[in-house]
Amino acid sequence: MSTPDQGLALHHLTVRFGGLLALDDVSLRVTPGRVVGIIGPNGAGKTTLFNVVCGFVGAQAGSMTLDGRPFRARPHHLVRHGIARTLQGVGQFNGLSVLENVLAGVRSGRKPEQQAAAALERCGIAEHARQMPATLPYAVRKRVELARALVSKPRILMLDEPAGGLDTDEIRWLETLIREADTTVMLVEHHMDLVMSVCDEILVLDFGKPIAFGPPDTIRNDPKVTDAYLGAAA
Ligand SMILES: Nc1ncnc2c1ncn2[C@@H]1O[C@H](COP(=O)(O)OP(=O)(O)OP(=O)(O)O)[C@@H](O)[C@H]1O
Ligand SMILES: [Mg+2]
Repeated sequence: MSTPDQGLALHHLTVRFGGLLALDDVSLRVTPGRVVGIIGPNGAGKTTLFNVVCGFVGAQAGSMTLDGRPFRARPHHLVRHGIARTLQGVGQFNGLSVLENVLAGVRSGRKPEQQAAAALERCGIAEHARQMPATLPYAVRKRVELARALVSKPRILMLDEPAGGLDTDEIRWLETLIREADTTVMLVEHHMDLVMSVCDEILVLDFGKPIAFGPPDTIRNDPKVTDAYLGAAA
C-alpha cells in the first residue's frame, strides 16, 4: 500500500518563457502504480511539465517532492531516481545502433547486454538490434525509444506522445504495453481513445493552467475540456 506521501508530487509549478506563461500554478500528485494522463491543446504546457520534472527547464515558482522529500531533478540523475522518459517524436543517438541506444538507458547491475536484449524483446524489435535507427521505419524507432526507457526498469515512466504518428495496430500494441508496464506512468498524449482507455486519472492543461483533473469519465464529460479543444481548433 502507498501512503499519501509516496510518489512524485508537483506543487504550484509556474514556468515563464519571457512573457509567455507556459505553466501556471500546476499541482499534481502522481500516485505509485497509476497511469496519469496529461492532456490539452497544442502549446498547453504538457512537454514543459515533463521538462520541469526532468530538470531540463527550471520553474520560476513551485516545488516538487519525491516520496515526500524535496526533489530537484537533474537530467543525468533521473535514472538513479527511477525516472525514465521518452521524447516527443523520436530522439535516438543516430551514430549508435538500436542495441547501443538501449544500452545507453541501462541503469546498473550485471549483464547490461542481457537487460538491453530483454527490453528489445519486450518491445518486439529484437531483430533490429544491430541496425541503425535512422534506417528504420518510424514505428520501430518509437519502439526503440520505449525500449531505452523501459530498460532501466523505471518506477516512473514518462511518455511524451508515444502514439504520435502510429497506426491503429501500433497504438493497440502500445496500449497493452502501458497496461502491463507494472510501473507508474505519466502519459502526455493527443490520441484520446488511448488516453481514455489506459489512464486512471487525467490532468487537463489549457494555456499552462490546470482546468480539470479526474478519472476518464469525468474528463470526457467536462464541458471545460471540450471548450478548450474547440477553442484551440477554431
Ligand atoms: N524553451 C522554450 N522557450 C520559449 N518558449 C517555449 C519553450 N518551450 C516551450 N515554449 C512555449 O511554451 C508553450 C508550451 O509548450 P509545450 O511544448 O510545453 O506545449 P505542449 O503542450 O507540449 O504542446 P504540443 O501538444 O504541441 O506538444 C508553447 O507556447 C511553447 O511555444
Ligand atoms: Mg509537447
